[in-house]
Amino acid sequence: MNKTMTLRSTLRLSALTLAASAALLTGVARAGEVEVLHWWTSGGEAKAAQALAATMKAKGHTWKDFAVAGGGGDSAMTVLKSRVVSGNPPAAAQIKGPSIQEWAREGVLTNLDDVAGPEHWDQLLPPQIAAGLKYKGHYVAAPVNVHRVNWLWVNTAVFKKAGIKPPTSWAEFFTAAEALKKAGVIPLAHGGQSWQDFTTFEDVALGVGGAAFYKKALVQLDPTALKSDTMKEVLTTFKKIKGYTDKNAPGRDWNLATAMVIRGEAGMQLMGDWAKGEFLAAGKTPGKDFECVASPGSAKDFSYNVDSLAMFQLKNAANAKAQRDLASALMSPDFQELFNLNKGSIPVRLNMNMDKFDACAKQSSKDFVESSKGGTLVPSIAHGMAVPSAVEGAMKDVVSQFWNSDKATVEDTMTKLVAAAKAQ
Ligand code: GAL
Repeated sequence: MNKTMTLRSTLRLSALTLAASAALLTGVARAGEVEVLHWWTSGGEAKAAQALAATMKAKGHTWKDFAVAGGGGDSAMTVLKSRVVSGNPPAAAQIKGPSIQEWAREGVLTNLDDVAGPEHWDQLLPPQIAAGLKYKGHYVAAPVNVHRVNWLWVNTAVFKKAGIKPPTSWAEFFTAAEALKKAGVIPLAHGGQSWQDFTTFEDVALGVGGAAFYKKALVQLDPTALKSDTMKEVLTTFKKIKGYTDKNAPGRDWNLATAMVIRGEAGMQLMGDWAKGEFLAAGKTPGKDFECVASPGSAKDFSYNVDSLAMFQLKNAANAKAQRDLASALMSPDFQELFNLNKGSIPVRLNMNMDKFDACAKQSSKDFVESSKGGTLVPSIAHGMAVPSAVEGAMKDVVSQFWNSDKATVEDTMTKLVAAAKAQ
């Protein structure tokens, strides 16, 4: 009896061990490594990136973090180029807008239709956004969010102390800035890096010129709009803003500028809603500690910045499978919710439940839908959504030169913008 039991349990045990090793083997065969290049390294961004890593680990894959610090991603793009040129691309990289097409033309991206087709991405994404993720009709990138760029962030207590309300026009902005100055705080927290200068510039172009002017000048690159009375007013307003920033602004990272508003050293910041991720990571509450308002004059407009991960061709089959799982995970409702709650953005997937999101995200979601119906949804140039990267780089140089030099004139700058628009 004892013997039988022993035999039976031994058999059962070996059966169990066999099953377990088989499962383990299958697991090993299926699990892959997924290396993702991104520049999400600040407080809120890192939390969002961790959500992505956790999602992939839960699927049994190994996460290889390829984070290259530097807001706006300029450094990340330089590093990516050298990796791809050396024939060793990561599985995925944060690439967005027209750059997706530029990378696809190099023949290095992989076709994701085997994931996107069965999962109905065409029905789940706004058509304008889906089109940008495809090359010659095939998906080569997966989107994670929609950031709104034209936001102004305000420290509630600082504004209360100065006796002012969040500005809704550029005239009100300068009145508020004067009041903040008198109250002894830095009116506008700014980081003097070219993508941040341009973020401010495009906010002004939208607020002063409106969406139609913005599209004509900065998306269609129309020379008459680039050299017009409206552009004169845009440049003059833009330069006037500099007088309300502090002397330590040059070179400052965007999240350090956000921290100045969080601490109440500065009253406002013009920045996309990844700044909200910083406020939230610091334990602050919208509507109580800080306010989100559309950048002056742009309440009806929405300048968008969609983060996406473009996927590279991989030789290793297990890693390619992990890459497919990544693409699928990025579009899943659970991930879209978790990632965007941390990132400050809103889900890119349509018809998502917004119950867990705060008032800023709900406003953003409403404005995204309304602006797309009203023709006031515009792509952000500063964040790589509108023009070829060569044009973007040339325009950023012109705008930053104008911001930084006391000698640069409005007339010369407009002429230079027209030339930069031809840098293809
Ligand atoms: C943007 C990017 C955001 C955020 C920001 C600051 O270009 O789309 O996800 O990371 O830069 O780095």
